[in-house]
Amino acid sequence: MTHKERPLDVVILAAGQGTRMKSALPKVLHPVAGRPMVAWAVKAAQELGARDIVVVTGHGAEQVEAALAASGVRFARQAQQLGTGNAFLVGAEALRHQGDADILVLYGDTPLLRPETLRALLADHRAHNSALTILTAELPDATGYGRILRDADGHVERIVEEKAATPEEKAVREFNSGVYVLDARAPELARRITNDNPAGEYYLTDLLELYRQEGAQVRAFKLHDPDEVMGANDRVQLAQAAAVLRRRINTAHMQAGVTLQDPSTIQIEDTVTLGRDVTLEPGVILRGQTRVADGVTIGAYSVVTDSVLEEGVIVKPHSVLEGAHVGKGSDVGPFARLRPGTVLEESVHIGNFVETKNARLAEGVKAGHLAYLGDVTIGAETNVGAGTIIANFDGVHKHQSTVGAGVFIGSNATLIAPRVIGDAAFIAAGSAVHADVPEGALAIARGKQRTLEGWSRRYWSGMHEGVRKKLPWLAGWLERQ
Ligand code: UD1
Ligand code: CA
Repeated sequence: MTHKERPLDVVILAAGQGTRMKSALPKVLHPVAGRPMVAWAVKAAQELGARDIVVVTGHGAEQVEAALAASGVRFARQAQQLGTGNAFLVGAEALRHQGDADILVLYGDTPLLRPETLRALLADHRAHNSALTILTAELPDATGYGRILRDADGHVERIVEEKAATPEEKAVREFNSGVYVLDARAPELARRITNDNPAGEYYLTDLLELYRQEGAQVRAFKLHDPDEVMGANDRVQLAQAAAVLRRRINTAHMQAGVTLQDPSTIQIEDTVTLGRDVTLEPGVILRGQTRVADGVTIGAYSVVTDSVLEEGVIVKPHSVLEGAHVGKGSDVGPFARLRPGTVLEESVHIGNFVETKNARLAEGVKAGHLAYLGDVTIGAETNVGAGTIIANFDGVHKHQSTVGAGVFIGSNATLIAPRVIGDAAFIAAGSAVHADVPEGALAIARGKQRTLEGWSRRYWSGMHEGVRKKLPWLAGWLERQ
């Protein structure tokens, strides 16, 4: 079989505990740029067109498997964490096919590896008909890593683990990333790995010696950028990895025609899509399945999660949107909160301190100030006055209301749900509306006003002299009466 036809299988090692995270969450599930770390490895493997992907789980296996359930990968449980050699064997034996593929080994905690790099590694492996190709990189100080020892001709001879390295070996800058491409014999050879070393672990790196005994070709493929194989072992490294990923994502968006004002402050999860001429002001956070169309502006410090923003939408600073659909030409904020189930059709205006939830607002609706609109549909061109509240909750149940088109709701009205307000109706300011309002009617539901002439003069005149001394303008007014 020529290498072009040779399939690729992937084994991802993710059974380790990750004690340095000091966390109840398994290390590989800590999120970076919107995905659990291990999901980045899965994504890279899938982008390579892998035939079969097996994730080796152990610590927190149920959680890890649940987090990856939708990805289509399969799992192999490593009963005890006996070392990378044993983990690989457990994974390789769970592969669907045996003996016909190149096998790529990845770790669950190296989220920065790019598919392009893995493609180049695989190409090098195949071009040289190598049996084992090790992905390596250089660091001025490679403490903690296995070091790559080469012979006088530059061929890889050995990998020495930190614990077993002599001072001269520790000075070697080239290190083993833990990523390998192996030929189809690897599972067979891995059965011969022993735990005969000071740590009592099964070292996957022992494969190198086993391949060499077979007279097989072993190569190292050296990366230019050691960052790519950086493992996130503690929360400091996790933050560093997240920063690198954010920079990559932001750079790609800028190159595709998005303006990022102060990109270092902007966080865009890699599941988000952005159109051309989108402008993101400082501090914007975009999460989940958010889709932003051409020409949208999102104001400073806004957080948008799982939302769709259609063409030309303007979100003003400090707005929070989740599960919302904002139609063409609408504007939202500043300080607006759109909660799940919000649908703004075209050219809707939502101003400051307006909260919506499970609310459909038709074209041209205006809710400019201080409102709560929950479980309601509102027809076109309706004006929602400042301070309008849809009282949708009776303490036990939520109730649905309908407001027609062209309605004028005066300021500080409360609509006690469930309510139906007909088209072109008026609601007087300050009303507590507890009965439905038919089309074209005016509803006034507030106490009748009493006006008592001369009341202030009587009130202030009855006060102690000392009080009036503190209110000189009022004292003067009283004298003029
Ligand atoms: C390993 C390499 C070392 C390399 C380094 C790169 C060996 C013997 N050494 O060392 O040369 O420089 O990675 O990071 O392989 N895992 C399991 N089951 C186990 C043990 C580990 O699934 O029983 C997983 C871990 O979750 C982790 C990965 O394998 O994702 C690496 O394990 P780790 O113990 O961190 O290996 P290192 O000692 O760092
Ligand atoms: Ca490690």
